[in-house]
Amino acid sequence: MIEEINTFIVNEFATNCYIYKDPFSENAIIIDPGGDAEKLINFIENNHLKLNYIFLTHAHYDHIGALEEIYNHFKVEVVIHQEEYSILEDSHFNLSVFLGKPEIKGLKNMKFLKVKDLDIISCGSQEIFILHTPGHTKGGICLYIKDKYIFTGDTLFCGSVGRTDFPTGDIDELESSLKRIFSLPHHIRFFPGHNNSCILKEEIRHNPFLLGEFYEDKNSNKHI
Ligand SMILES: [Fe+2]
Repeated sequence: MIEEINTFIVNEFATNCYIYKDPFSENAIIIDPGGDAEKLINFIENNHLKLNYIFLTHAHYDHIGALEEIYNHFKVEVVIHQEEYSILEDSHFNLSVFLGKPEIKGLKNMKFLKVKDLDIISCGSQEIFILHTPGHTKGGICLYIKDKYIFTGDTLFCGSVGRTDFPTGDIDELESSLKRIFSLPHHIRFFPGHNNSCILKEEIRHNPFLLGEFYEDKNSNKHI
């Protein structure tokens, strides 16, 4: 029996790729396939998971390095924010050139599901809410599973926040996105694009980038 959330640290940038499995069925999604395609494919197949979608929290190279291989193997739709697709297509904006990596080819042959804020996508019994959280990139998203988890990509880390100096980054937008994340119930655990997972409540106390006073006690989920 595998976990609901399975974490794989992939590529030399130590990006977290997650395979989320519905607790009541074999349906699953993969989030940010940044590398190590073979390992990810083997995990999905060896555990007899039914892959529903590939999600991209954003299109930086370290989160998409194994996209083509995973897509070609499973041929499931790639979920990306509608404003992030242009970043995926651009080798400068997606940092392939900056990191000395090959261009992502084959996008034209892939099927994309371009989403917007508050769209809901099902994975078996679970609903995944799309939260548009720009700031690190203009079309960055967080994936929220109500009252349980949020996958924050490179928007929020344990003890840090996403950088805003890459193309389409914006510090004011990041600030707004962080406020929104902290309007969610504080008991939920967040799973970032790098490093370990943490509880929102703990983050308010320890993350030096957050203005504690503002983020505290805004514990309403009306803005999901
Ligand atoms: Fe990033």
